[in-house]
Amino acid sequence: MRGRFITFEGGEGSGKSTHAAALAERLKPFGIETVLTREPGGSAGAEIIRHILLSGIAKPLGAETEAILFAAARDDHVRATIRPALVAGHWVICDRFTDATFAYQGGGRQLSSEPIRELENMVQGTRRPDLTILLDAPVEAALARAAARNAGAAADRFERERSDFFERVRNAYLTRAAAEPGRIALVDATQSVDEIGARILGVLKERAWIS
Ligand code: TYD
Repeated sequence: MRGRFITFEGGEGSGKSTHAAALAERLKPFGIETVLTREPGGSAGAEIIRHILLSGIAKPLGAETEAILFAAARDDHVRATIRPALVAGHWVICDRFTDATFAYQGGGRQLSSEPIRELENMVQGTRRPDLTILLDAPVEAALARAAARNAGAAADRFERERSDFFERVRNAYLTRAAAEPGRIALVDATQSVDEIGARILGVLKERAWIS
């Protein structure tokens, strides 16, 4: 596979969707073709499963079933969207991927890592993102930002969780970043949008992916 696979991760209100879209735009002048996608979803089959996951109807089935459903959605997304784009030489920029399952179902819902790792291997084989941008912010600040953004809209199944859930999500992400510093770049999401955008481009420059 010739393209590069970049994922964005972070808690609710971390700004990752904004920065994923901004990066896709900023790469265009470099002559890089990008495919911007997101999870859960990003392909026709995965969008069906997204509805099941975010409506909350699967929550009573437990964390393991939830992780399996995210993996099933990811399997379709990888087959239908991500792999064909990478094979065509495009760069795939994905808003959330498997680190989110480790953070939310693993950290948030306290499912052990072992079944999540098994699902990861089943869906991805040895394929991992080439780079993951982790946008990190204190939970209270990020939740306030998410609440302001969503004012008037109904909260989805995850947005209804309490702040201790999101503390565990954040800690799980930070633990993964510490364990895999070569893949996961930790970015302080409390900075301004411009500072964060510049930092993300800096990460790509450090890897000599762009000049
Ligand atoms: P979404 O509406 O796409 O918003 P955002 O990514 O901007 O928060 O919601 C996706 C939700 O699904 C989010 O709360 C995180 C959760 N999630 C998991 O719990 N596990 C996963 O593997 C993925 C990909 C997402």
